[in-house]
Formats: sequence, C-alpha cells, structure tokens
Amino acid sequence: MKGWLVIAGLGPGSDAMVTPEVTQALAEASDVIGYIPYVARIAPRPGLTLHPTDNRVEMDRARHALALAAGGARVVVVSSGDPGVFAMASAIFEAVEAGDPQWRALNIRVLPGITAMLAAAARAGAPLGHDFCTINLSDNLKPWAVIEQRLRLAVEADFAMAFYNPRSASRPEGFARALNLLQQTCNDARPVIFARAVSTPDEVINVVPLPEARPEMADMRTMVIVGSSRTRVIAREGAPYVYTPRSIPK
Ligand SMILES: C[S@@+](CC[C@H](N)C(=O)[O-])C[C@H]1O[C@@H](n2cnc3c(N)ncnc32)[C@H](O)[C@@H]1O
Repeated sequence: MKGWLVIAGLGPGSDAMVTPEVTQALAEASDVIGYIPYVARIAPRPGLTLHPTDNRVEMDRARHALALAAGGARVVVVSSGDPGVFAMASAIFEAVEAGDPQWRALNIRVLPGITAMLAAAARAGAPLGHDFCTINLSDNLKPWAVIEQRLRLAVEADFAMAFYNPRSASRPEGFARALNLLQQTCNDARPVIFARAVSTPDEVINVVPLPEARPEMADMRTMVIVGSSRTRVIAREGAPYVYTPRSIPK
C-alpha cells in the first residue's frame, strides 16, 4: 500500500512547540483529519484536504483516516499535545484491531508532541521532578468510582498528580468532588498549580495551597498539578517556583 497514516501531536498551542518531524509530516500530507480546533491550526494549501470533525466522533474519525490511507492517501490525524495521551492514537489502534484485516499492513506512525502536563509543569518550575501519576478526571469514558479509587491510591503512594480534563460545563461537580477528596485525605497545604491555556495568548498560571483551591479555578483548558507531600514552593516577587526534590532521604 502506498498510502500512510501519521498520528501527530501539535503540542499545547504555540507553533514553537510543534516538533520538526510533525511539521515535515504535515508538509507531505494529502489529508489532515481531527477535531475542529486542532485542524484549524493547519494552514490550507493546494493539494491538502482538511477534514475537521466534532470531538464526539473519535472512532468514526479513526476509521475514516484508515480507509483514506488504505486508498493511497497520505493522512495526518492531529491531536493537541501528545497523540498518545488521552487522544487519537489509542482510537486508531482500537479501530485497527477491530477493523479490516488489511489495515494491519498499513504504514502507521505515531509522532509525539509536548503534552499539556509537561508544558504546564515547566511553567511552574519542576513539580514533577520525582515520582508522579496522571489521571484524566473526565468520567465520560470510565466510571467515577475508578477515578476516586485512583485519587485515593495516588495520595497514599504520595505521588505528585497531574489532572487532565478537570472540569467542563457538562461535568461541573466532578472536580469539586475530587478537590474535596484531596483536601480531606492530604490534610496539608501542598501547592496546587492551575495552568490554563499554556503557551497560548490566554495563558494563566496560578499557584495556591491545597486548602485554598476552588473548583472554579479550573475549566476544560486547564491542567491541574497537585504536589506530593514533599513538593516545595520558593516564594519570590511574582509567581513562585514550585519543585519536587529529586530524592527522598533513605
Ligand atoms: C482530551 S485532553 C488531550 C490531551 C492532549 N492529548 C495532550 O497530550 O496534552 C484535553 C485536556 O488537556 C489539557 N490541555 C490541553 N491543552 C492545554 C493547554 N494548552 N494548557 C493547559 N491544559 C491543556 C486540559 O486539561 C484539557 O482538558
């Protein structure tokens, strides 16, 4: 088959954070497929067809991309951040596993991007400098009980925690429950970083002690990073530095 499929991460927003290999793949593509705001980041040019679709049709989008590539097209599926982090790469492989056996012979490559968690952490300092975990707080694709169990175990293991999809208009109560659980179980003043729209003109970084964290400080464009019990805050003029030491005394 002469077509190919690339699943690419566009990074958190700034063009400066798109990797050269993603830029190269986009320059060679005949078709770009993805959620409307991500496809809107791709400049139109002759010979390139853009296929913006709604966010709720991930599996349709995946099958469409595979069928186009199987027909000889050079297809790039775009995600924000990294395509393997709560994004399209898994959907594509799910479609490959369940779909036309010929799709297994396709040339499929995943090109990493800077995920929102790392862009947000870098803005604050180094809050993920020691062991950490990441949890998607949306219960669209999993039961809330799983989220709650993972939060409890993450606190018990004393991980720093990075939360994607903290709060949306259709799920306003989930993040309030998550914060409440953390405030009750951690019972300390570890820092919480609210990093909104990182690397875009709308960027806002806010660092507050856990007891002062409020649900309305996050929305769907926010990464929330909660320190471990060992995470430090260096106060200074302007935003503080937040870091987690590299070691735990033996
Ligand atoms: C469906 S997930 C996609 C994650 C993406 N694949 C990645 O690797 O960053 C969307 C969530 O990522 C986070 N996010 C994406 N871009 C962001 C940015 N520029 N600043 C802060 N958070 C961002 C938000 O938590 C948002 O709700």
